[in-house]
Order: sequence, then C-alpha cells, then structure tokens
Amino acid sequence: MKHLLATDGLDPALATAVLDTAEELKHTLLGREVRKLPTLRGRTVITLFYENSTRTRVSFEIAGKWMSADVINVSASSSSVNKGESLRDTALTLAAAGADCVIIRHPASGAAQRLSGWLAEAGTAVVNAGDGTHEHPTQALLDAATLRERLGSLEGRRIAIVGDVLHSRVARSNIHLLSALGAEVVLVAPPTLLPAGVESLPVTVSHELDAELPAVDAVMMLRVQAERMHGGFFPSAREYSIAYGLNERRMKLLPEHAVVLHPGPMLRGMEIASAVADSPASAITEQVRNGVHVRMAVLYHLLASEGATA
Ligand code: CP
Repeated sequence: MKHLLATDGLDPALATAVLDTAEELKHTLLGREVRKLPTLRGRTVITLFYENSTRTRVSFEIAGKWMSADVINVSASSSSVNKGESLRDTALTLAAAGADCVIIRHPASGAAQRLSGWLAEAGTAVVNAGDGTHEHPTQALLDAATLRERLGSLEGRRIAIVGDVLHSRVARSNIHLLSALGAEVVLVAPPTLLPAGVESLPVTVSHELDAELPAVDAVMMLRVQAERMHGGFFPSAREYSIAYGLNERRMKLLPEHAVVLHPGPMLRGMEIASAVADSPASAITEQVRNGVHVRMAVLYHLLASEGATA
C-alpha cells in the first residue's frame, strides 16, 4: 500500500489484510506492561490537521509511538499556514524535513488526493484522516474491526447508518468498505440529509428508523455536522431527535445481538441517549480502542510491509 486515501476502490483483500494485522497487533499488545514494538524505528510520521480532532489525531500519535516511529503533530492554527502558506508548500516542507508519512485532515474534499500527487516525487505516504464531506477511511476500518469483533464476519450482515449522511465522510467511507466486505447497508435519514446521487451507491434508503431497527445487526449513528450546515438545517434539532435519535424506546426494537456504533464526538440527548451510548450494546469505547490498532496496522502496511512501496 502506497497511500490510504479512500475506501472507495480499496481492494477488499487489502482491507481484510489491514483488519487482520490490527487484530494481531491488538492480541500481541494485550496485557503487556510496555506497549512498544520496534517496527517503525527510524521512521517519521507527521500529522497535519486543518480541522479539530480528538480521536483520530491522538490515536494516530499513539499508534506511531507504540511502533517506535518519531511522531510530530502539526496543527494549521499554530503553523505557518496562519501566515498564508499554501497546502502544497506546507506539504513539500514536511517532506523535505524528512516525513515518511503525512496524515492529513482538511476541510476540502480531495485534499488528501492532491497531497499524494505533490508528494509522489518525495515518496512520502499520505493517509486521509478526513477530507471535507468526502472520506475518512481509517474510521471505516476501525468500525469494520469493531463489527468483526462483535459479530464475526460482515458477510450478509445488515447495518443501518443513521442521520446526517449528507455531510458525513464517515458514512461515505463505511458505505464503500462495509459493502465491499459483504454487508448490506441501509441509510436511514430525512430526505434533506441524503446526498445527491444516493441511488448510485451500494445501499438501500429508508426514512423510517423504527421500521428498520428490528432487522439490523448493527446501527451506526452519525454526528449532526452543524458546522457544515450554513444557514441552519431541516428538520430542526428537536424534530431530528424525535425522528432519528436512538433513544431507550428505540433500542428495545433492536435484536438482542445488535451493536450500536457512533464515530464520535457524540451529541448526547440528540443523536443518541446516554442510556444507549453507555449500554452493553454500545461499542463506542471499543471503536476508540480499536482505532489505535487499526492505525498501527495502516502505518505498518504503508511503511513496513513488503507491499509498502507497491
Ligand atoms: N471520529 C472522529 O474522526 O473523531 P475526531 O474528530 O475526534 O477525530
């Protein structure tokens, strides 16, 4: 693997190999007092974030450090980006300084792809940590890892992705990855929060959450992305919560084995009730935990495996 830019078009065999590596790493590190592997000693990984993050940035930093890489965090707000430096010049500067891998989060869809073009000559790997409303591939991989852990194979499993699909890069990456791994994806959202061209995606669409819940193996609640809704959104927050919030009543409609996911950050009380988020059905904390192992696996496949430069 040379870069990880999207799950759209990602070879399912490669995705499975990353998930298998993550699982192996998790078992290797389980119960160890010192969580440190020498795999990426001498490698430099830079996180370059133009948008806020807690989970993704921290877990990439931990992943790199647990594999002995040197990890440097650059946030746009405290870098020369604030003096007007372009993304291209910033990226070339990081490559010239010795980055083997740049992990980028950016508000523009396609930013990671552009970066990979600019850094091709330097041979620097690029990971998309979320670009606009486009993709967030490592989130989908950690979601798939969590679902595999709870449900076994994804083959034939029915997974509902609920809420603000329109603005969600998490939803887009999951649609492509989960369907490539054999799951059936149903999008549950109001018509105003579905993207144009939804009919070309490998999904079915529903507007009725109550009708879908009894037949799913997992339900993935999405964050309502108010920061990408210029001029408010319809339905209102209250209407949204009534129609699409996962509350205690709705949780009772789920099969007993069903898993509840949320990529975070959660808006408790609106998208998901605290009693649901903190229930045994919820795998939200496991998602975060698995995020570290999945990101370790991604760095391994980019920088250390035989196929790293393929
Ligand atoms: N799920 C996710 O991307 O969370 P952060 O924005 O905190 O990284």
